[in-house]
Amino acid sequence: MLQHQSIQRIRAQVRQWRVAGETLALVPTMGNLHRGHLHLVDVAKKNADRVVVSVFVNPLQFVPGTDFENYPRTLDHDIEKLVSHGIDAVFVPEVESLFANAVQSTTKVSVPELSNVLCGRFRPGHFDGVTTIVTKLFNIIQPDVAVFGEKDYQQLVIIKRMVADLSFATKVLGVETIRESGGLAMSSRNQYLTQDQHENAINLYKVLLGIVRRIKALRLSNALSDNELRCIEQQSLQYLSDLDFKPDYIQICDATRLTPATTSTKNMRVLAAAWLGEARLIDNLAV
Ligand code: PAF
Repeated sequence: MLQHQSIQRIRAQVRQWRVAGETLALVPTMGNLHRGHLHLVDVAKKNADRVVVSVFVNPLQFVPGTDFENYPRTLDHDIEKLVSHGIDAVFVPEVESLFANAVQSTTKVSVPELSNVLCGRFRPGHFDGVTTIVTKLFNIIQPDVAVFGEKDYQQLVIIKRMVADLSFATKVLGVETIRESGGLAMSSRNQYLTQDQHENAINLYKVLLGIVRRIKALRLSNALSDNELRCIEQQSLQYLSDLDFKPDYIQICDATRLTPATTSTKNMRVLAAAWLGEARLIDNLAV
């Protein structure tokens, strides 16, 4: 497996593959890889001849005062995992090489309509940081396919929209969430949970499952109303608070526009974010 830090080197490598007529998939990550990431790698391998994984803890997407400094950096372990997963190259750029100008004053890419709702309300600027770094990675690597997890559902929708709006030639693939045995979505941030909190965390998934079941039952009995949808959200927030979560939001949304769902919404998705101790957990389910 090749390991490149410099933009020039990874570009030269990609050029060689292109000349040989090979297709390329990119899996962007911030490292601290777990089974969820490795599943993205497996999907990437099925969809292209060559796979590049990028590992970069992106300062632009951390809201000031949050966990950028403490974000777990485990490059040696990540590389071991990637070697045993048989990818072609890992791209590990330094902050200085990616940002010629000061990080905070760099040119930004923004998808405003979708970035200021849900998690965007609680993490101002976060998604601009994501879309900016993903644009840079797409420009450097020029992948045919890029693979992202559905666990970060809002991120996935925003990146799909950005790719459409800016006419990128990259196809974005969303991959289903990998869960621990109890149902908790795999995340690098789960390691901030104590043992007790970890057991409690499963309730976030259970609440989402309960919401999906309730909507389906109400639909079947023709009793679903807009008011009922908002009531379900409110009751679920209260339920999580009673279980010691500090929920940011639970919202039943239109799956592509991310606006609050109404009874006429065809494709619904339930999204939630809640703090448990030091960990901000997010999860979502299709209805
Ligand atoms: O999902 C992530 O890990 C990050 O947001 C991403 C897409 C790698 C951009 O930094």
